[in-house]
This record gives sequence, C-alpha cells and structure tokens, in this order.
Amino acid sequence: MKVEKGIVLAGGSGSRLWPMTAVCNKQLLPIYDKPAIYYPISTLMLIGIRQILIISSPEGIQSIERMLGDGSQLGIELLYAPQYEPKGLPEAFIIGERFIGGDPVIMILGDNFFHGHAITEMLKVEPYERSKIFLYPVNDPGRYGVAELDKEGKVVSVFEKPKKPSSNLAITGFYYFDSSVAERAKRLSPSLRGELEMTDLINQYDADKLLSAVVFGRGYVWFDIGTPQALNNASNYVEVIQSRQGVTIGSLEEVAWRMGFISGEQLKYLITSIPHCKYKNYLESIL
Ligand code: DAU
Repeated sequence: MKVEKGIVLAGGSGSRLWPMTAVCNKQLLPIYDKPAIYYPISTLMLIGIRQILIISSPEGIQSIERMLGDGSQLGIELLYAPQYEPKGLPEAFIIGERFIGGDPVIMILGDNFFHGHAITEMLKVEPYERSKIFLYPVNDPGRYGVAELDKEGKVVSVFEKPKKPSSNLAITGFYYFDSSVAERAKRLSPSLRGELEMTDLINQYDADKLLSAVVFGRGYVWFDIGTPQALNNASNYVEVIQSRQGVTIGSLEEVAWRMGFISGEQLKYLITSIPHCKYKNYLESIL
C-alpha cells in the first residue's frame, strides 16, 4: 500500500536555542533564507506526500497556519493539531491517530534537514511491510538516538543519547511506521526524563521483527538544527549550494510545481502575492 500521509512534528521547547526560541517556534527560525519547516515539508512533498498533519504547540500552530494555510495554494492538504506540552516524539502518533486512520505513515521532525543527489530514492520506504528508520553516520553520535546494526544490516539495538554509543549511526528524524503505530505509541510509558521515547517505539517494532534500517551514504547531508552551531551549519550549507548553483533548496512553491501539484498558471498567481525579493525573482526565473 502506497504511503500517502505524513506528519511534521514541529513543537518542542527549543531550549538549546534559547533566546532565539524565547518567543519563536524553533521551526520558524531561518535556515538561511527560509523558515526551517519549509525543508521537511518540501522533503515530504518530493516523495509524493500530499496529506500532511503539522503538530506543534498552540502558539506554534497559530504562526505556521498563518504562514502556510490549508496548503491548497500548493496543491496539498495541511492539517494542524496541537501538542500542549512536549511529552515526547511518539505522542505525535497518539495525537495524530484519527489522521493516520489505520494507514501507514511517515513522520519527519520539523527541525530536520535532508539534501543530496537523488535524496528521494534514498528516502524510499518500499517494501512497505517493514517499518523503517534512516541512519546517518556522524562524529558525535551521543547527541542523537543511536542504532547498532549486525553484519547483515539488521538492527541489534537502539538507544537515546547513549553516553557510550555502540556505533556512529545516528537515527535521523525521518521514520516510516505501519498502521499499528498509534496503538503501539499508546502502550509506551514515559522514560526517566518524563517523555515518551522514540527509541522505545522503535524497539517494539524491532522485537516484533518488523523493522529495517537504511544507512545514508556519503553523498547526502542531514542536519538536525537543535543547536546554534547546527542551525548555522545548515544555513551555510544552503547558502553555498544556492549561490554556487543558482538553485533554491526547499522552495515549497517550486516543489509543488515540479511535482505537478500545481500548474504553471497557479505558480504564476502565487508569485504575484510575494513581495519583491530574491525568492520571487527565482520563482519567476524557473517558470
Ligand atoms: O533529529 C534526530 C533526533 O531527534 C533523533 O536522533 C533522536 O532519537 C530523537 O529523540 C530526537 O532527538 P532531539 O534531542 O533532537 O529531539 P528534540 O527534543 O530536539 O525534538 C525534535 C523535534 O521534535 C523538534 O523539532 C521539536 C519536536 N518535538 C519534540 C518533542 C520532544 C515536539 O514537537 N514535541 C515533543 O514532545
């Protein structure tokens, strides 16, 4: 069964980015020239997902909805649901249970950025039977969820921010889960830090032999903009690629048009509402 639904989890306290996040949702901070949430939404659109539930704090939703509306201008459907307190990533599946409605679902974290040649091939979730996590080799695995694989690439263990990581494979914030995910999330108990943990959910799938892992190769970029340095690195990356190649990364209007979600006429109309700026010039140039 094709996956048609995606969740963007875009709440959280953003404590490591304070004072930038004192009055601003983390996902609205800029990665170079766009709000951070543009990038994960464009990633979902690029893999063909058009029904998207955005989960955030009530204040976060107010701003994000004001910015993106119901998505119809982009040929997609954006729905919103509040998370009143950041009680952990798997809570998204409980909040989103009605949206998921017994279908498989992809979740992407609102502070995650993926880029690279043929990234959409890399993020393919077929075969659909097994839920999937996507792993990225890093220098500092202890900052993330970490997975250990055996020689055949099967998941042996996953731990959240381990003091002594058993591998260099960070679990990225892009997950594919089957239709049982909401039920499974409801069975989780909060960890010592008081949150439902993604690693506990992943472990359930692994114990039931329903999990597989995909490891990113060298030609891909993944950032989680959880710290000022990571936010700056992601911004620098986008600036370098855009100014060198003359392309724009993460433009929702461009992706909607290239994916055939909107026509050239619709894109032209969208452009008329954008004030004079480089972003507008770029969209005019691609038409
Ligand atoms: O980015 C990948 C990492 O994301 C994974 O390797 C970890 O296993 C996973 O736990 C998560 O770790 P972080 O420490 O980066 O999680 P953070 O609290 O920063 O939350 C990630 C995103 O989810 C962020 O955009 C805020 C949002 N969030 C988080 C929580 C806990 C929510 O919207 N609600 C929440 O309850």
